[in-house]
Amino acid sequence: MAQRTLFLLPGDGIGPETMGEVRKIIDYMNAEQDAGFVTDEGLVGGSAYDAHGASISDADMAKATDADAVLFGAVGGPQWDAVPYDVRPEAGLLRLRKDLELFANLRPAICYPALAQASSLKPELVEGLDILIVRELTGGVYFGEPKTITDLGNGQKRAIDTQVYDTYEIERIAAVAFELARTRGNTVCSMEKRNVMKSGVLWNQVVTETHKAQYSDVKLEHMLADAGGMQLVRAPKQFDVIVTDNLFGDMLSDVAAMLTGSLGMLPSASLGAPDPKTGKRKAMYEPVHGSAPDIAGKGIANPIAMIASFAMCLRYSFNMIEEANNLEKAIANVLDKGIRTADIMADGATRVGTTQMGDAILAEFSALSA
Ligand code: NAD
Ligand code: IPM
Ligand code: MN
Repeated sequence: MAQRTLFLLPGDGIGPETMGEVRKIIDYMNAEQDAGFVTDEGLVGGSAYDAHGASISDADMAKATDADAVLFGAVGGPQWDAVPYDVRPEAGLLRLRKDLELFANLRPAICYPALAQASSLKPELVEGLDILIVRELTGGVYFGEPKTITDLGNGQKRAIDTQVYDTYEIERIAAVAFELARTRGNTVCSMEKRNVMKSGVLWNQVVTETHKAQYSDVKLEHMLADAGGMQLVRAPKQFDVIVTDNLFGDMLSDVAAMLTGSLGMLPSASLGAPDPKTGKRKAMYEPVHGSAPDIAGKGIANPIAMIASFAMCLRYSFNMIEEANNLEKAIANVLDKGIRTADIMADGATRVGTTQMGDAILAEFSALSA
């Protein structure tokens, strides 16, 4: 039986709590389904900084590079506010994305029927919502140089971040969005700010050209990113696939999270290009939410974003489609039964903690797999 290697990076705050629930599912799949997962675990973020003064060690980077897939929890927290910028917890996450060349971040926002009431929008606006934000993840203002704060010597300082995009970076993320659109609603909305930014002008041109050259069967729309944010809360169901840059994608996916009821619901997959020889992609699966310092250690975090990220791992890294579907169905069934963590609590529902939610999903997954 083939081995499937997983490198687990639970991180900080609620990361280890939610990762614990995925570990139970991995153990179940190994014991009951002969899944052959071989796991190893490392440190990232503040916990790595505390252990060895870096937000991820070279040894753990090497393990992340070698694994079939990386599962990432969350990083950050106020206890590391004062650490040097280069080794702050978030730097470990950014290094993983950049060094593994995980340029395509898929952030699906699905409103489970049982959660339409939990959204901050009216239920009729979000019921049946199924959108996919495709966020460029290794370019733009996150990584552009120069990135500096300079003392001007007159009591003033100047901070510079640089937004940079090359043609190939836009082409490859646009291709991912078009390919995925073909498997769902066949519509892509590209968001940038070409009215203000040169990178927006190039983004718009390259997406348009890529569409014309290879994907003219897909419907393409363009929207200025600020208007896109407005439309996401006005009428989110108008969207199918949204493709956008690193920073706009970060912000728009947090907005989309609240359409689904909670940031604790949104999974993501960060994918590299397929290897030309083997067809395999480097991949990391990471919830959209952070370390949630306000609730860390209380056992109340919602593990669904982490578990649904593992479902994406089953689908995209291991082609275990039936298992991925069953795991997502298990989440939906548990929500249908009115089992809720605090962040998605509703009148008449049963409030549970992180481990009980994980147990309920595993029980449902096991029943569906039988
Ligand atoms: P956050 O996502 O950690 O939390 C925002 C709010 O959402 C909080 O009220 C939190 O309690 C709630 N929340 C988030 N996940 C939840 C879950 N699974 N269940 C229930 N409630 C949940 O964002 P923040 O507070 O802005 O950032 C905290 C730290 O996390 C910062 O250091 C930030 O840099 C970091 N961060 C890390 C990641 C990541 O590791 N991928 C992502 C975002 C933020
Ligand atoms: C996310 C996070 C990260 C980002 C941070 C923690 C670096 O907010 O994954 O959405 O800005 O990309
Ligand atoms: Mn974010």
